[in-house]
Amino acid sequence: MSIPAQLPKPFFVLAPMDDVTDTVFRRIIADCAVPDLFFTEFVNVDGLQSPGRTRLLKKLRFTAGETRLVAQLWGLKPENFQKTAEQIADGTFAREFGLPEGVNFVGIDLNMGCPAKSEVNSGACAALIKNPELAVRIIKATQAGAGHLPVSVKTRLGFNEVDFSWHELLLHQNLSMLTVHGRTRKEMSKVPARWEDINYVRELRDRIAPQTIIVGNGDVESREQGEELAARYKLDGIMVGRGVFHDPYVFAAKSPWQDITREERIALYAKHVKLFAETWTGKDRPVVTLNKFCKIYINGFDGAKELREKLMNAGSAAELLELLQAA
Ligand SMILES: Cc1cc2nc3c(=O)[nH]c(=O)nc-3n(C[C@H](O)[C@H](O)[C@H](O)COP(=O)(O)O)c2cc1C
Repeated sequence: MSIPAQLPKPFFVLAPMDDVTDTVFRRIIADCAVPDLFFTEFVNVDGLQSPGRTRLLKKLRFTAGETRLVAQLWGLKPENFQKTAEQIADGTFAREFGLPEGVNFVGIDLNMGCPAKSEVNSGACAALIKNPELAVRIIKATQAGAGHLPVSVKTRLGFNEVDFSWHELLLHQNLSMLTVHGRTRKEMSKVPARWEDINYVRELRDRIAPQTIIVGNGDVESREQGEELAARYKLDGIMVGRGVFHDPYVFAAKSPWQDITREERIALYAKHVKLFAETWTGKDRPVVTLNKFCKIYINGFDGAKELREKLMNAGSAAELLELLQAA
């Protein structure tokens, strides 16, 4: 299956967010207002090809209903990208998750944008912007392993400065999709995303690689805003990350979130907690992981802050559910 054949224009993507966009949250978002494409959290290929593999499988886990999911990889060793891409493409991971034959990821994305010190200091993720030779070897190795699966890259505008030679290089790699987060690594998330620069990459795409889909990313808070940006800058797709923290219905044509009652918000969080408890053991993901989601739902009504304080001290999913039921 190729990504372009399946997607409307513009299409909307839920951004990969580590420790956020696991199978549970993706399904919650899909039930609220479904985007056209999802990404997993980023997962380290060097870890996946080591004895630590089992511990990392949670990053890739998905369910049979998740039919538009791209696996996002990061790491350093081209040979581990190739092996992991082979195992994704041949369904090894899907089988490990107990999924029926034919259910699989629809693509493989390479993280060349994460700005975090731990990753960058090792030479991975955004540091690849400064090491184009390794970046190209990683892309080629992944493409060699991925077979029929499309390979894409998610990156930033540059490392310290905007550097369009980086995007030119990427656009010569026969990628199926290029997602551009409109900030440099140095800027982290501290300045507004520069959509004019994303537009410039789109112009480069038109010249160099018209077959590569371009997705813009940064600060989109509603579908309407995303549609406007896609039209203005002639982009194929729009990726939304933190926008879901303010509105789980962010992908809806007209979000009902403002009108969702206190009871409905509490019920939505309870649904998330139940799904979390059914999916993960404490060893996979401790219950405190849920705290970062609490403010999404327990928000926008009188007493929300006090309720959050109680909920965030819960020691187990069962306790959380009891508190939510009593609220
Ligand atoms: C908590 C968090 C975790 C993230 N993890 C990833 C990741 O695993 N892979 C990735 O490519 N980007 C990651 N990002 C970056 C987002 O995908 C996105 O590019 C960024 O948040 C900008 O988009 P936004 O303004 O819509 O949030 C993460 C961002 C956040 C806030």
